Amino acid sequence: HESEISADSVERGEYRHYMQKEIFEQPRAVADTLEGRIGPHGVLPNIFGIDADPILDKTRGIHIVACGTSYHAGMVAKYWIEELARIPVVVEVASEYRYRDVVVPENTLFVAVSQSGETADTLAAMRESRRRGYLATFAICNVPESSVVRESDLRLMTRAGPEIGVASTKAFTTQLAAFALLALDLGRRRGLDGARYLDHCKELQSLPRYIENALKSEPEVLKIADHFINKQHALFLGRGAQYPVALEGSLKLKEISYIHAEAYPAGELKHGPLALVDENMPIVAVAPNGPLLDKLKSNLQEVRARGGELIVFADERAEMDTETAHVATVRVDGGGDLIAPAVFTVPMQLLAYHVAVQRGTDVDQPRNLAKSVTVE
Ligand code: G6P
Repeated sequence: HESEISADSVERGEYRHYMQKEIFEQPRAVADTLEGRIGPHGVLPNIFGIDADPILDKTRGIHIVACGTSYHAGMVAKYWIEELARIPVVVEVASEYRYRDVVVPENTLFVAVSQSGETADTLAAMRESRRRGYLATFAICNVPESSVVRESDLRLMTRAGPEIGVASTKAFTTQLAAFALLALDLGRRRGLDGARYLDHCKELQSLPRYIENALKSEPEVLKIADHFINKQHALFLGRGAQYPVALEGSLKLKEISYIHAEAYPAGELKHGPLALVDENMPIVAVAPNGPLLDKLKSNLQEVRARGGELIVFADERAEMDTETAHVATVRVDGGGDLIAPAVFTVPMQLLAYHVAVQRGTDVDQPRNLAKSVTVE
């Protein structure tokens, strides 16, 4: 019911749907989430609460628990935290975590991620974690007065503002911004090279600008959406921290367009999904500029050789020959390695949105789904 109340008080303005409005609010939402938390010398002190220092200094493991889109944010965070802070991270959906006999090594931090802060499984997992001997509980959440926030020891609020569309958009990118702050802060505590730390801090501060720029891909994405209107399936591919972005892209598409969509780490293609590839199966690939680009390109060749319709979202700097994509290559400036997953999320959201609009579904209120799942 919370979303109904806010829906009345939040204007759609010039936008046709709340989802579209929320996609376009992301530069502001991310800037607000970073505001007063990071500066020229790095992540500012005490942003996780005044009791955070001794806990974060002691942290030697992290368990991230969430549902839906928030779970995908946690998956990206695993790549970041392990790389920058060398702290092992386990990410799990709350409905599994809460009923499993989880091993909790000493000095492990429990992190709950939730837009609403009221998702039944996430809340129950957090309560269960109290009995499992964690160092502390930490919440990344968008609603300050929510149960998840009230019951956590440490917290970092996303400042996305009310999100009305059932398919989460700005909550996700602000969760990524919050996790990037955490990953950098933990990195600094765990011996991340000073110059690298400052470079990444600067990069993170530029995220709103890169998102703004990625939004400009809308007209191109709109054209690509045509290819999906009569499709029943779609496959999303990514590698590294872009694999969760592919997962999030496929979730967006299935939630609002009702097209069956799956995401695979591109390297797993030949272990099953390649059998499905033909001209009726559009394949969306996220191709950032990085060490895994060549590997991804050879995965894409395998798809092309089987007649698959390929749509590639590629970094501006990535050398992709125009032949690689069958249908289209959309160029996106991903910024740096750290922020690229957040930037590449934007065209995925736009794709799902425009496919759904063209298929005539109820974009903001997809059938069978709720904004906040407060019962098990
Ligand atoms: C529902 C929503 C999703 C959301 C998930 C987790 O499934 O439809 O958009 O990602 O719940 O919600 P939370 O509020 O915990 O982030």
